[in-house]
Amino acid sequence: MPDGSDKRPPTTRPGPRHVAIIMDGNGRWAQARGRPRLFGHHAGARRVREIVTACPDLGVEYLTIFAFSTENWRRTQTEVAGLMNLFRRYILKEMQEFVKNDVRVRFIGDRVRLDAKLRSLMDETEALTSHCSGTNLTVAVNYGGRDEVARATKRLAEDVAAGRLMPESVDEETLPRYLDTCVLPDPDLVIRTSGEARISNFLLWQSAYAEYEFIDTLWPDFTSEIFTGLIRGYGSRERRFGAVTA
Ligand code: FPP
Repeated sequence: MPDGSDKRPPTTRPGPRHVAIIMDGNGRWAQARGRPRLFGHHAGARRVREIVTACPDLGVEYLTIFAFSTENWRRTQTEVAGLMNLFRRYILKEMQEFVKNDVRVRFIGDRVRLDAKLRSLMDETEALTSHCSGTNLTVAVNYGGRDEVARATKRLAEDVAAGRLMPESVDEETLPRYLDTCVLPDPDLVIRTSGEARISNFLLWQSAYAEYEFIDTLWPDFTSEIFTGLIRGYGSRERRFGAVTA
């Protein structure tokens, strides 16, 4: 080019089909306001609806959010109980809204340790939204990537022991069928808010080739505008999946 600039139009690529979010920073957001940590979690819960609602226009078909990790039980009893209470209230309040907005809800994680009332609300929401064909919202509760792989391996081993699966047929397509996420595509983009650059045991197997965005914004400040910017930014990235671009 005569002036040295590249006048080619930017590559237009489809946006991410599956976005996963580590919603971090609720506690710091509350502390900065001199309020208890649960105040931040409540503010964070309000953001969830805004982000879910933004998905259809952005072409995001799957949204997976990390609500409670297998490690989060180590928090104070007050915070854990407050979060569980918040999840129950949130599901009750949003259930009809999900149906109205054609959002199909799924939960991943180990439900065994969750209380019976929360578990039945989860089952009810999954059943109630099972016919919805808009955004697929997956909420990770008592979820840990290593725990998920361990649980999947146990079931796989049971199938081998029972003769339903031949060890020589096991390959990298086999294990995903036993994961909690077996019906979901792998995430294309994983976002973590609050300035921490860690994946904290989230979707370990599934994110092998995901793009990552670590942003400083605390989750309760994460607006649909910020989300839109990240989705648009993804369009300019080149994903090679280990190959070399021709
Ligand atoms: C991490 O922030 C956040 C959590 C452990 C809980 C996430 C929960 C919500 C966003 C609210 C509700 C969600 C749903 C689906 C209703 P943190 O507490 O670790 O923040 P900090 O790092 O600033 O302490």
